[in-house]
Amino acid sequence: MDMPIRRGPTEGQLALARRLASGAPTTGDSISTVAASVYTDPARFAAEKAALFDRLPTVIAPSALLPDSNMAVTHDGFGIPLLLTRDKQGVAHVFWNVCRHRGTRLIETGEVQKCPRIVCPYHAWTYTPDGALVALPRPDTFPGMDKADHHLVELPNVEAGGLIWFARQPNDFSDAIGLAPEFDAFDLAGHHLFRRRVHDIASNWKLIMDAFLEGYHVQRLHAQTIGRFFTDGVSVADQLGIHQRSAVGRNEYLAEIDHEHWPQLRAVITFAYQLFPATIMIMSPDYVNLMVLMPQDVGRTLVEDFMLIPQPPTTAEEIEHWEKSWTLLDEGVFGGEDYRAAALGQSGLSSGSLETLTLGTLETGIRKFHDQVERALA
Ligand code: FES
Ligand SMILES: [Fe+2]
Repeated sequence: MDMPIRRGPTEGQLALARRLASGAPTTGDSISTVAASVYTDPARFAAEKAALFDRLPTVIAPSALLPDSNMAVTHDGFGIPLLLTRDKQGVAHVFWNVCRHRGTRLIETGEVQKCPRIVCPYHAWTYTPDGALVALPRPDTFPGMDKADHHLVELPNVEAGGLIWFARQPNDFSDAIGLAPEFDAFDLAGHHLFRRRVHDIASNWKLIMDAFLEGYHVQRLHAQTIGRFFTDGVSVADQLGIHQRSAVGRNEYLAEIDHEHWPQLRAVITFAYQLFPATIMIMSPDYVNLMVLMPQDVGRTLVEDFMLIPQPPTTAEEIEHWEKSWTLLDEGVFGGEDYRAAALGQSGLSSGSLETLTLGTLETGIRKFHDQVERALA
């Protein structure tokens, strides 16, 4: 987190912006299909869980969830009991939320808390947020036991570019680290978490990803909310390894702006990231929406929405301003539109009436994403 932070577009972001402004064709040139069963087959879901979610590094939260040292919060969205902490030195950790004495859940539940000590509710073994066992009652009754052997069990994790990633198996995080300059360009690590909320959606996780991989629906599904801010079909995308980066523009201004002027560029282009397997980040002109998808079942997904703003609000007006954006996005655009569309899709597809879905040339992001899933399963 001590790396110099570059607050300006990366070469890759600029190249994408120029492509968008050039008016060059931005779409694929052929239709394709996706088998309906990839969204509805429990065996397929189990295979994805094993090949993707149990294996690959996944974003779990923004750095801003733990803004200070000596903080902790429980995390159960992935179906396993986790404990996120930031230690005295400011280092983030992802531990099993499990006491090393006899396996008791350490912190029961609740919001982010300041906790220089984590005390097990059962026999009061006491840990610091770096996972060290620092005290236990009646140590004389554990003769020969070394506290150093009873460190909380940590899952592989890394913090980079304002995101905390974890994995269930030993992993190579070079990809997460390599993406950091993308997010440092937005000073993501310096952002303040304004609100977060978990949505429980009756949909396969990929239907939710799909909604953030195409611009075809923006003028239609979002007609009552944000559709008017965008021009139909003006978007470009590229690949960052297994991830995707896209840019959606307001065409009428694109030719006029100074591309080196980052605030101007961000005002007319919305960059978005689809981090494989299941994280979405949307860089609005003045704030960031992060969505962490946590698949529960073939037809059920939890999504945690995080709204990140450049700095903590200081006045009632500022709070009201951000509150309006939060409500518009979390309840309206995402909850009321994108997630609802995903649930309607699941409802239709689980009827078994369709063998395949058809993707148009504005939906090539979905094609690429599904191809990536297939490669990971192969
Ligand atoms: S189980 Fe945690 S202190 Fe005994
Ligand atoms: Fe959408």
